[in-house]
Amino acid sequence: MTKKRIEIIVDIIMYVLMLTQMLYVFTTNNVHEVIGIAFFICLIVHLFIKRWWFKTAFRKNVNRSRLFFNIVTMLLLLTSVVLMISSMGVSRFLFPWFTILGSSDFHRYMATAALTLAVIHGCMHGIWHSKRKRLAVSLTVLACIASVTIGLFAVPYMNRHLKKVTADFADTVYGDKVDWKGQKPLVVYFTRVGNTDFDPDIDAVSGASLLISDGELMGSNQLLADMAGDIIGCDPVAITLTEEKYPSSYNRTISVAGDELRAQARPKIDPIDVSDHDSIILIYPLWWDSIPMPVATFLEQNDFNGKTIYLIISQGSSGYGKTISEIEALCPGANVVPGASIYCEDVPDARDTLLNLIRGWNSP
Ligand SMILES: Cc1cc2nc3c(=O)[nH]c(=O)nc-3n(C[C@H](O)[C@H](O)[C@H](O)COP(=O)(O)O)c2cc1C
Repeated sequence: MTKKRIEIIVDIIMYVLMLTQMLYVFTTNNVHEVIGIAFFICLIVHLFIKRWWFKTAFRKNVNRSRLFFNIVTMLLLLTSVVLMISSMGVSRFLFPWFTILGSSDFHRYMATAALTLAVIHGCMHGIWHSKRKRLAVSLTVLACIASVTIGLFAVPYMNRHLKKVTADFADTVYGDKVDWKGQKPLVVYFTRVGNTDFDPDIDAVSGASLLISDGELMGSNQLLADMAGDIIGCDPVAITLTEEKYPSSYNRTISVAGDELRAQARPKIDPIDVSDHDSIILIYPLWWDSIPMPVATFLEQNDFNGKTIYLIISQGSSGYGKTISEIEALCPGANVVPGASIYCEDVPDARDTLLNLIRGWNSP
């Protein structure tokens, strides 16, 4: 086989592997990790075959398209190295001992950047050889938009809808404590599990974004609340609906929650009295970029003037959404302190993050 042919085969395998990695909700974690190793082996082979490029990359007097190609290739190399480190950081199967850059969110951003740069890198060859340059450039732009959309939106959407995360309760919840100075905060949380009419048989539960701990269905935010409760040494309190619960189907819950948000509904909940506490750790999921409406009910039912509200949030793509300003508006006079916004898949590994966070809150 000629060198050129090997080169083309390796390149095709790399693109196929990259796309397969984006569909990891279907391939499961362990297969994803093994494919990752295969990808990086192919990358090393690719770099070996193209090693002559390093000699030409820093030459002066190259034309503009060559310069652009060189910059993209350097960025691709850099992103691939960071992606490799973050792949090990998020690994639970092959490198569980490696913890550097262990955020799934960051890993996904790096994978999206690498895929997009790889698309530009590959398409540049097509542009150079094409007679219809404008068409080739347009197709490259479209391919870039597709890869960014896949990485930033499609992958988290599929994860939210289809993925079940498992956790070992004892391993994830119990550990080092923080001796909170003064009055301990009240830990209050909201989660879907407990506020949803789920089938008792977890295998029959439709939709996903669920956490299964010791064979039991558990809310991500419940697990976070149990971690925070164990760190501080208190029992978390759940925000619990007293009337209609959310439907078992994930999609229907999305739609009901969207209706509630538009109507600014205040679903009825069991009252929670915070008057005896100076500070509250509030743990909730991001719903439609907002707080779930039962959390709004809880906030409106209490006077938080002069109190501190520490926020811990779990979400399916990133950030706090609009929740910080919403909570500030609902709690006049409160000191609202954002703490951590945790990607739902990272919830089982979040205890150290919470421990450091709570330590920081406790030693101003
Ligand atoms: C109704 C609903 C709306 C959601 N909206 C968002 C959203 O806007 N952005 C996001 O990143 N995740 C969103 N998610 C994902 C949840 O924030 C995430 O899965 C969270 O970890 C679920 O926590 P829980 O298991 O404790 O209910 C939504 C989930 C549901 C059920």
